[in-house]
Amino acid sequence: MESAVSTENKIKKIAVLTSGGDGPGMNAGIRSVVRCAVSHGIKVSGVIKGYEGLIDDNFIELDHRSVANLISRGGTFLKTARSPRFKTEEGQKAAVETLNRHHIDGLVVIGGDGSYAGAFDLFHKWSVPVVGIPGTIDNDLSGTDQTIGCHTAVNTALEAIDKIRDTAHSMERIFVVEVMGHHSGYIAMQVALGSGSEDVIIPEKEFDYKAMYEDIKEGHKKGKISWMIVVAEGAGKAHEVASKVTEITKFESRYVVLGHIQRGGVPTAPDRILATRLGAAAVDCLMKGQYGKAVGVLQNKINLVDLGHACKASVIPIDEYCKLIKILT
Ligand code: ADP
Ligand code: F6P
Repeated sequence: MESAVSTENKIKKIAVLTSGGDGPGMNAGIRSVVRCAVSHGIKVSGVIKGYEGLIDDNFIELDHRSVANLISRGGTFLKTARSPRFKTEEGQKAAVETLNRHHIDGLVVIGGDGSYAGAFDLFHKWSVPVVGIPGTIDNDLSGTDQTIGCHTAVNTALEAIDKIRDTAHSMERIFVVEVMGHHSGYIAMQVALGSGSEDVIIPEKEFDYKAMYEDIKEGHKKGKISWMIVVAEGAGKAHEVASKVTEITKFESRYVVLGHIQRGGVPTAPDRILATRLGAAAVDCLMKGQYGKAVGVLQNKINLVDLGHACKASVIPIDEYCKLIKILT
């Protein structure tokens, strides 16, 4: 569906929001959207707290200067929220009324699959000219190799696991480390391979606990004194996995839940660069009248996909990773 605004120069004012779970690099994305739009003479409003701010008419005006010193900051200065109200007909109606009141003729939504589902509704049910930018640490969207935030989150978790490995080795213990990802094993897979962990438990693949207990006992006979198990939060609870391991193998274990530290911190260079490229691509999209799309970078090229398609999780090479983890243990 193409809206009435379909050629360059017709866009006068856009709005940008961040929605759902925050991720490092979202600020760099907002900065890029604002500065690229302003460079084309387009005015920009920032929506505070995602879809909540659309419903409640919580807008601020942004210009070139208002996004200074933002590229290196974690979090999102526009704030973000989960908005159950936006899933209702009344909530969406109120959001659209706000957009109309502010004469917004293009909306940029930075968020994950839930935020994309909301953006999909805005476009298909309410004809709002909208473009999505993938912002989530989960890296579970299609049409892009990476989502904004996942690179930083993986590095944060990796750094933590490296530290845990020091004490695990020194005290000859088994550690179970829980990382984020309710439905996505992306962070778990990346950090398991990157940290040299011995096992990884993810929501996308059934895990053979019996085989792990046997491996641990066999490993111990061969002199293997520590064991690192990474579990994605959606696949199991670290404390339960740890107590079962001790119950069955009789070896001492500890568990760590990394939690929200994975969502914070200074964005890495790849996250800042991705966010900057995608911010520019989103403005470009709106100017060309390409609505209902999500921007991404695939094989280092800007890529556009329909929002409905982008919501589907991208594929991680699970079998290749699992095979490598086993060979290298
Ligand atoms: P993320 O975007 O990080 O996946 P959520 O799943 O919490 O985070 O989604 C963010 C917001 O998007 C939700 O709070 C809700 O307002 C909106 N949203 C989520 N799912 C839908 C849906 N199926 N339809 C419409 N809006 C949705
Ligand atoms: O979607 C990003 C994410 O960090 C998931 O990995 C995690 O399961 C969830 O958000 C946690 O959400 P909350 O901050 O609401 O507890």
